[in-house]
Amino acid sequence: MKAPTKVTLTFDNSAKQIELPVLSGKLGPSVIDVRSLVKSGYFTYDPGFQATASCSSSITYIDGDKGLLYYRGYPIEQLAKHSDFIEVAYLLQYGELPNAQQKHDFDSTMRQHTMLHDQINTVFRGFRRDAHPMAVMVGVVGALSAFYHDSLDIGDPRHREISAFRILAKVPTIAAWSYKYNTGQPFMYPQNRLTYVENFMYMMFATPCEPYVPNPVLTRAFERIMILHADHEQNASTSTVRLAGSSGANPFACISAGIASLWGPAHGGANEAALAMLEEIGDVSRINQFIARAKDKSDSFRLMGFGHRVYKNMDPRAAVMRETCHEVLDELGLHDDPLFKVALKLEQIALEDEYFVTKKLYPNVDFYSGIVLRALGIPTNMFTAMFALARTAGWVAQWNEMISDPENKIGRPRQLYVGDAQRAFIPMEQR
Ligand code: SDX
Repeated sequence: MKAPTKVTLTFDNSAKQIELPVLSGKLGPSVIDVRSLVKSGYFTYDPGFQATASCSSSITYIDGDKGLLYYRGYPIEQLAKHSDFIEVAYLLQYGELPNAQQKHDFDSTMRQHTMLHDQINTVFRGFRRDAHPMAVMVGVVGALSAFYHDSLDIGDPRHREISAFRILAKVPTIAAWSYKYNTGQPFMYPQNRLTYVENFMYMMFATPCEPYVPNPVLTRAFERIMILHADHEQNASTSTVRLAGSSGANPFACISAGIASLWGPAHGGANEAALAMLEEIGDVSRINQFIARAKDKSDSFRLMGFGHRVYKNMDPRAAVMRETCHEVLDELGLHDDPLFKVALKLEQIALEDEYFVTKKLYPNVDFYSGIVLRALGIPTNMFTAMFALARTAGWVAQWNEMISDPENKIGRPRQLYVGDAQRAFIPMEQR
């Protein structure tokens, strides 16, 4: 059926009517353009923005009912199978898959921006050694805005591109050094002869004492994990980056805000929480008691890695992640990994349970990622940092799209005021 072009609001207390235009995109639901409502003295009300389109975008499309995820129209399954992360980062930024020359130029530019200003070493040393890597990433990425003033005219597309290069190229170094700082091992400087993901694995796991040879199967698995996490429409952290950017804040500060938002356990922190949950369950014999807790309204426990604001079907990324799990555990001879057995059994039980079926709660991207990351040797407190590393490609693309959008305005939501009406001040002696 053809989408309507307008809707008419009627009121039960008057004959007044308000006509609102309906806008339709290329895919997905049409939207009711409510911008003119404010002239009529009304706001819309939508805590958590469950029914609100905050912008128009051509970067990522999600169909939650069908479990579809496209980056610039390409299904995530195809990109995860055939692309590498640099190619996907280019696709998200520029809208097209790069040809060989474009990919070479983009890749070599990345390799030329991997180093940090040497003074940033002291920023790391301001943190306690046991600081959570996400706290360090928020701080150090934000601090980049104190070092790069030569290209922060965000109205200049070239400045935006240079800032994008710097952020994309430096976040792997910052993430790896956040880990090294935690362990007390020396920082490993980026090696520009390595690919983006190989370089990250090198900076994470190499030491000055012996040569580091990346395992191609594990590197490919990590590359796929990065692709799966690269972008996801207007999720909480991307919306944070957009809102920060709408005030004209510099891109490094905006990405730092996105990292902070991603850290929450309901969002990017769920992969760390999901593994902790699997470890707490420990054995398939204990699964039912945790399922019962997840269904118990008086218990705040939730199955971490399950449920999604948009997906009311299997998160397509979870399926690819499950397959990657098998590959990595087999490569490492860990196919009897007890946590993987718990995860597979938990998924099977939950997907047959009335509560999860009716509420359309399926495994999301975070359910299996913790098992894979742990098998790759990534420490649990670095799981969300991995998510941030990958999502930086999406955040930068979304920020750039917003800044160059002619409809872009400073984000300034309103509210339903439920506080006190005007009242007289009470002097201290009368309180
Ligand atoms: C990510 O937005 C994105 O795109 C995010 C992300 C991305 O790539 O950027 O996809 C990454 O953040 C994935 C989600 C990771 N979070 C988790 O795995 C944490 C566990 N899941 C949730 O807390 C929850 O499912 C959310 C936060 C993900 C979604 O919450 P919603 O959309 O606000 O849904 P809700 O909390 O209103 O839940 C609906 C119902 C509730 O029951 P009722 O009040 O209707 O009786 O489902 C229940 C919830 O209690 N429910 C769960 C549950 N998730 C929802 N019950 C048990 N276990 C769960 N995991």
